[in-house]
Amino acid sequence: MTNKIVVGICGASGSIYGIRLLKALLSQPREVHLIISEAGKLVMAHELGLKESSSFEQFLKSDGVRFHEGARLIQHAPDNLFAESASGSFKHQGMVIAPCSMKTLAAVASGFATNLMERTADVCLKEKRPLVLVPREAPLNKIHMQNMIKACEAGAIIVPPSPAFYFHPESINDLVDFIVARILDQLNIGHNLVGEWGTD
Ligand SMILES: Cc1cc2nc3c(=O)[nH]c(=O)nc-3n(C[C@H](O)[C@H](O)[C@H](O)COP(=O)(O)O)c2cc1C
Repeated sequence: MTNKIVVGICGASGSIYGIRLLKALLSQPREVHLIISEAGKLVMAHELGLKESSSFEQFLKSDGVRFHEGARLIQHAPDNLFAESASGSFKHQGMVIAPCSMKTLAAVASGFATNLMERTADVCLKEKRPLVLVPREAPLNKIHMQNMIKACEAGAIIVPPSPAFYFHPESINDLVDFIVARILDQLNIGHNLVGEWGTD
């Protein structure tokens, strides 16, 4: 069983979802292949203060991400179509795009892959590997909703970033971690972010 996973971060609002997901994944012995789109970098800089000059690993550490000694983070340029995940021969546990923009959702739904993020997602669907999309927009138009249905029918799992409130969240991190927990559940990856309902 491989311990490799691919994470994509798009230029939709909510880069924090991708960061909290990385935090959870890298706290375990795991190889994480990360793709941040060009728009994703801009939005992350705006929302979370990521500086162009600072290394992403340094940024994660300053944000409280603690790397397991067996964890590895490999970042790929979004235009690098030669990266491993662009090929179906690269075996991994699945891909999460969090947050996923309506533009990348549209690309996935229509099989129109022009960059590494879209290509990797396309490969996941053709290889029947888990592909979890966390699409962020409000309100949604008919095209957005149709694209979610198309992606879902092709095998993608749609996890909208809409947290529940029955667990009495006290912070933004609590709200975000609720969604990260749902994402990890879909990939059968253990976590202790939010307890199972009814087990307290
Ligand atoms: C501050 C900011 C917030 C944005 N939020 C969203 C959003 O929530 N959802 C979305 O679909 N696009 C959003 N966009 C637009 C995307 O960044 C844009 O469509 C981009 O082309 C997406 O490219 P990507 O999918 O390659 O990351 C936002 C843009 C900016 C600058």
